[in-house]
Amino acid sequence: MNEFNKITFRKSLIDWYLEEKRNLPWRETNDPYKIWVSEIMLQQTRVDTVIPYYNRFIDIFPTMEDLANANEEKLLKQWEGLGYYSRARNLQAGVREVVETYNSIVPTTRNEISSLKGVGPYTAGAILSIAYGKPEHAVDGNVMRVLSRVLLIKEDIAKPKTRKIFEVAVTEIIDSQDPSSFNQGLMELGAVICTPTSPKCLLCPVRDNCTAYYVGEQNNLPVKTKNKKTKALHYDIYVVQNDKKQFLMEKRAETGLLANMYQFPMIELATKEADTIPLLDIRYGIHFTKEIDLGPFKHVFSHLTWEMNCFVGHSTEDSLLETCKWLTIEEIKEVPMPVPMLKIWQAYIERGN
Ligand code: ADE
Repeated sequence: MNEFNKITFRKSLIDWYLEEKRNLPWRETNDPYKIWVSEIMLQQTRVDTVIPYYNRFIDIFPTMEDLANANEEKLLKQWEGLGYYSRARNLQAGVREVVETYNSIVPTTRNEISSLKGVGPYTAGAILSIAYGKPEHAVDGNVMRVLSRVLLIKEDIAKPKTRKIFEVAVTEIIDSQDPSSFNQGLMELGAVICTPTSPKCLLCPVRDNCTAYYVGEQNNLPVKTKNKKTKALHYDIYVVQNDKKQFLMEKRAETGLLANMYQFPMIELATKEADTIPLLDIRYGIHFTKEIDLGPFKHVFSHLTWEMNCFVGHSTEDSLLETCKWLTIEEIKEVPMPVPMLKIWQAYIERGN
């Protein structure tokens, strides 16, 4: 192999994709709104996880108007467990712009579509190529991995500016007849064949076009420097019940991590050691009688870890904090909660009371 052959690469990739592609719900539509939803969910989340969320989301918000008019709590509830909740808020903001400014038609140019909230270069290219058949690059981590091998690109894919190199490469080699299958073929190849470890080169439809395979470098690519270790934060969490079988819940601040989601009262600790004196009265203004310990619990976010002790107990008072309210078990099911809180709640329920 001397020179990269675009023609055979395109044909082998697209033929393979059309023959072997997985049946995924967002592959049954060309509706740019639905493609948009799927691509936002698929950022940072695995396909198997996304499928039920996508189906439920489209059932509940079948059109852009439905999503534009949804209240935030209902939206976050649908996103509960997917993580990176600002994706949901940005998606709704972007969809509202399309409804208000573009007469509910997702724009068809990279410039306009990129101006929408939450739509970066990858999402723009994915919508334009998949929904509108435009020959636009859609480069994410998977595509960079595939092309770093196919084209023997050794730049560090952890560096933001490296993506540009791959965007230029895709623009150069994309199939102008079927850009949707080309881009999705690259994604599919990255998901099922050209995996991060142990790529299945013997099954690969573009092995003959792969420079890394030719020189035996496929296991050393992509070059990706590791990010720093995640930071651990320590919390005491309080599951507090009153005499009316309600539980004290707090709504988080409207900006920052897990904005506007609901949690049990929590107090950050300076160290890993559990506090022996419950601090709830000082911080939340209520007296708390501890009954049992639950946990410990641990939850890993992308950039930090929560390590939690959990106390279950009773109170007969109201919190002085405006952000707190007492909710029944039924009401708790309706509010959006971050996964660490869902884990605690589930452990509490399973324990019986
Ligand atoms: N990952 C990102 N976009 C995807 C898509 N459209 N299909 C499968 N996996 C994906």
